[in-house]
Amino acid sequence: MEIIKEINILREKIKVRKSEGRVIGFVPTMGFLHKGHLSLVEESKKYSDFQIMSIFVNRIQFNDTSDFESYPSDLQKDFKLAEDAGVDIIFLPDDAEMYRNNLTSVDVEILTENLCGAHRPGHFKGVFTVVSKLFNIVQPDIAVFGQKDIQQAISIQKMVNDLNFPLRIVLAPIVREKDGLALSSRNKHLTSEQRENALCLSRSLEKAKQVIEAGETSVRNIISEMESVIRQGNPDSIDYISVVSYEDLGLINEIDVKSVIAAAVFFGSTRLIDNIIIEAGNGK
Ligand code: PAF
Repeated sequence: MEIIKEINILREKIKVRKSEGRVIGFVPTMGFLHKGHLSLVEESKKYSDFQIMSIFVNRIQFNDTSDFESYPSDLQKDFKLAEDAGVDIIFLPDDAEMYRNNLTSVDVEILTENLCGAHRPGHFKGVFTVVSKLFNIVQPDIAVFGQKDIQQAISIQKMVNDLNFPLRIVLAPIVREKDGLALSSRNKHLTSEQRENALCLSRSLEKAKQVIEAGETSVRNIISEMESVIRQGNPDSIDYISVVSYEDLGLINEIDVKSVIAAAVFFGSTRLIDNIIIEAGNGK
């Protein structure tokens, strides 16, 4: 596995691989890899035969400076995990390499109005800007994003369509601990008590699924059921519990279309997100 820090060198290497007919798979990350990231590489390998992973903690997508400054990092461990997972190149640019004199940004309207977009001003603009740059640098054939950041994944798919990026986006399922907690680099910040309490998040989504399977379609009732489960976990605050249409991420009142049920909850200063996708009416 090679570790490359410069855009020009990376481009040269990829050009050679493409000329050999290799299909380039790409997994963008901010490092501090866990099984969730590795599952994205596994997914990528199904559709491609040369794996590139970027590790770049993208300052411009953090609306909270302390969140950026405390973002966990363990590069040596990341390199080992990535190599074992079959990554061929790690792209590890620094801030100057990515943003020297950058005055351009990319945004996706409408899809970013609810969920995290409503609570993290500027976050998605930072994500779309860096992902556009990474797509132009790496020029992958496919790129894999996790369902855990569902608003990010759906909006990036739209960005790819709207801006005619010549690549395919693959959505990979959420990876959970045995007890249901969705894997996240931020879980590292949880105390053992907060870690236990945080299970209320996945439990609330399970509860939503159960009541929908039992015939409930009213979003107001579903949210109220979820809120009582989340409150049992004694969260420091609930950022949102929302139900939106999968198609346009717009708020809905009834579960009558394919939907996303999502929540963001603070345990201490750690903000965790989770979601499930519901095919209209059957709780899948
Ligand atoms: O999902 C993430 O880790 C980040 O938002 C991404 C896609 C790597 C962009 O910085």
